[in-house]
Amino acid sequence: MRRIEFHDREKETMELTRILSTDPTLITFIYGPINSGKTELINNLIKNLPESQKVFYINLRGWFISNYDEFIKVIFDVEHVARYKRIKEFLKPVANVLPESYSGIPIPKDMFLKLFKEKEVEDAFVYIETVLRAFYKDGYPPVLVIDELQVIGDLKVDDLLIYKLFNFFIRLTKELHLAHVFAISSDSLFIEDVHSEAMLESRCRYLLVDDFDYETTAAFLEKHGFTDDENAIAWEYCGGKPVYLIELMNYENREEKAREMLVLRTGEIETILKRINELGGEIIIEDTKYSVSYEKLVESLKKFVDRETIDMNEVDEISKAFLVKKNILFVDPLRKTILPQSKLDLLVI
Ligand SMILES: Nc1ncnc2c1ncn2[C@@H]1O[C@H](COP(=O)(O)OP(=O)(O)OP(=O)(O)O)[C@@H](O)[C@H]1O
Ligand SMILES: [Mg+2]
Repeated sequence: MRRIEFHDREKETMELTRILSTDPTLITFIYGPINSGKTELINNLIKNLPESQKVFYINLRGWFISNYDEFIKVIFDVEHVARYKRIKEFLKPVANVLPESYSGIPIPKDMFLKLFKEKEVEDAFVYIETVLRAFYKDGYPPVLVIDELQVIGDLKVDDLLIYKLFNFFIRLTKELHLAHVFAISSDSLFIEDVHSEAMLESRCRYLLVDDFDYETTAAFLEKHGFTDDENAIAWEYCGGKPVYLIELMNYENREEKAREMLVLRTGEIETILKRINELGGEIIIEDTKYSVSYEKLVESLKKFVDRETIDMNEVDEISKAFLVKKNILFVDPLRKTILPQSKLDLLVI
């Protein structure tokens, strides 16, 4: 089995390195369409950082966080560490090749129980701040990365938590210059909310990690032995989405595979629309339920017949929220545009 090595991202890596070489002053939001390579980019960056720069990487994906307690457990990796220790015990013969620990904020279990009995989120933040101070080295402020931040941005969770967290991030960056904060999300509706959030105004910056552009895609495929024809097919069907391109690499007949991907995705999107048409559907926006209109969805999608990108205001809010939630469309609130999540989606549309 071939391991696909990290490709390019020179521009983005340079930008992140530039940010890391300055005193922390702003929160950095990293966003982009699904599967564009945001997590991979940050992992690659972390791997190449000097040893003196401590990184805390916390991925909220896959965690069902519905209250403060669960959030704290994930931040401190309490569940992870407990499970990890059990698994490590089981894997003893190979345990020396496993990393020493997960990368959440380290805390001994007794301390955790003692400290967080009171369930004060502020206590947790003070604790994290203290840990960050301990790891602060002149010229190398620690780096705090929270991946899939929208998990707690969801309104179902304690409304205040996300605001407290943003305040804490502002304190770490703008006020104390103590740590770099990177918040990653592939949920463009969340990023849209963040962008319109008054408290973050001029306290954060945004970095778009998009699918590869044409040249980067061509170079990536060439490196993996694609012919010019295969290259053209890959671009036509998959654009520059790394996961799709890697999927094509694994097949002998790349054109057949690309067509198959198109048929599959067409089926998925058709089903989503058919359901709305026949059964109707609802979506919650800021605590209010709205019904989704099949006609309006179709009308919205039709705008992509002869364009790849449209203006953010060309689609009604309900259709926009629905199509983004279903991962068909991607909103870029900074450029005020809407585009399909991938070239494949554009073709389907
Ligand atoms: N620069 C790259 N070079 C090689 N492979 C890459 C690169 N970027 C992404 N990939 C591949 O694409 C896959 C998806 O990337 P990744 O998980 O980083 O995307 P993401 O934007 O974080 O996705 P999500 O929107 O689900 O959070 C990775 O598992 C990796 O295989
Ligand atoms: Mg990711």
